Amino acid sequence: MDFNGSHILSIDQFDRSDIDQLFSVANDLEPFSLRKKVTRVLEGAILGNMFFEPSTRTRISFGAAFNMLGGAVRETSEVGSSSLVKGESLIDTAKVLSSYSDIIVMRHPDEGSVKSFSEASRVPVINGGDGSNEHPTQALLDLYTIKKELETQKKTMDGLRIALVGDLKFGRAAHSLIKALCLYKDVSINLISPEELRLPDSYLTLLAKAGVKITQSENLEEGIAEVDIIYMTRIQEERFKNKSHAKKYKGLLSLNNEIYTANCEPNTVIMHPLPRDSRKEANELDSDLYENPNLAIFRQADNGVVIRMALFTLVLGVADQVHMTARDVNWQTSKRH
Ligand code: NCD
Repeated sequence: MDFNGSHILSIDQFDRSDIDQLFSVANDLEPFSLRKKVTRVLEGAILGNMFFEPSTRTRISFGAAFNMLGGAVRETSEVGSSSLVKGESLIDTAKVLSSYSDIIVMRHPDEGSVKSFSEASRVPVINGGDGSNEHPTQALLDLYTIKKELETQKKTMDGLRIALVGDLKFGRAAHSLIKALCLYKDVSINLISPEELRLPDSYLTLLAKAGVKITQSENLEEGIAEVDIIYMTRIQEERFKNKSHAKKYKGLLSLNNEIYTANCEPNTVIMHPLPRDSRKEANELDSDLYENPNLAIFRQADNGVVIRMALFTLVLGVADQVHMTARDVNWQTSKRH
C-alpha cells in the first residue's frame, strides 16, 4: 500500500510487504523511542488525538510517539467533554477537527464509526479502536512483539503456534491480530474461550481461507500446552448489553504461575494487550508471573510507541527525513529495563 496520506482503518489494508516496511522503519526509530536520540521531523505538525472511549496505553503512546517526532498533540479524552454530547454529528466533528490537525487518531465505541469519520476528514485518520470491530495498531505492535520475541528463540513468524484466550467475541485486539496472522504461513491457532464468547464465524471463515490450522475449546491447560505464544485477553464487559452478564465469564480462564509451569513449554511467551483485569473475580493474568522472563506484556506495551512513530512517519511521508534533524538527547538517560 502507499502509506503516504492513507487512512489506517483496518488490518485488511496490509499485506506482508507493508508490514515488513513498517517494521523496518520501526527498527530504525528505536534510538528515538528509547530516548537516546531526538528528532524534530514533525515540528509544526499537530495530532488530533480523539478518544471517545477509555484508554491509557493507546492514547498516551500515540501522543508520546507524535511528541517524540517533534509534533504537538491536542486531545479529547471523553465524549462528555466534546460537542458530541450536544448532538453534533461525527461528520461535522470530523470536518472541523481535520482543519485543526495534520492527522487524527480516533477511538469510538461504535463499529465502523472511525471509517465514517475518515470519509469526512480532510486529513489521514488512524483507527485507535472502533467498538468490538478492529484495533489495527494494536495488532501491528503485537506482531512486532511476536516477531522480536521469536527471533530471540531463533524462530520465525511462519510456523507460529499461538493460543488466543478469553473474550474472542468482543475483543477487537484479538480480531485485528487474527486478520494479521492470516498473512503468515503454517500458522496454528488455539482459540480458547467460554462457549458464548467464541470467535465470530466471519473470522473463522477468514482463518479457513488462509489455511490457518485452528482448534477451539474452553480448556486453558490443553490449549496452552504446545504453543510459542499465549495471548491472554480481558472479558470486554463494556460491550455486553447487560454488564452483569459479563460476571459469569470472569475468572473462568486465568493464567498463573502454577498453570503455566505445569502445562507450558519452557519458552512460551505470555502476551496481553492490557489492561488486564486484576480484580480478584477476574484476574485473567496473575501478577505471580511478574518474575517470569517470558512475560512480554511490558515489552509489548513499549513497542506501541515505536510502531506508532513508524506509522506516523510513513503516513506523513517523512520516514526518510527522520535522521536529518537527529541528535543525541541532552539529558542523562537512566532508563532501567
Ligand atoms: C485493548 C482495547 O482497547 O481494545 N486495549 C488496548 O488498546 N491496549 C484491549 C482491552 O481493552 O481489553
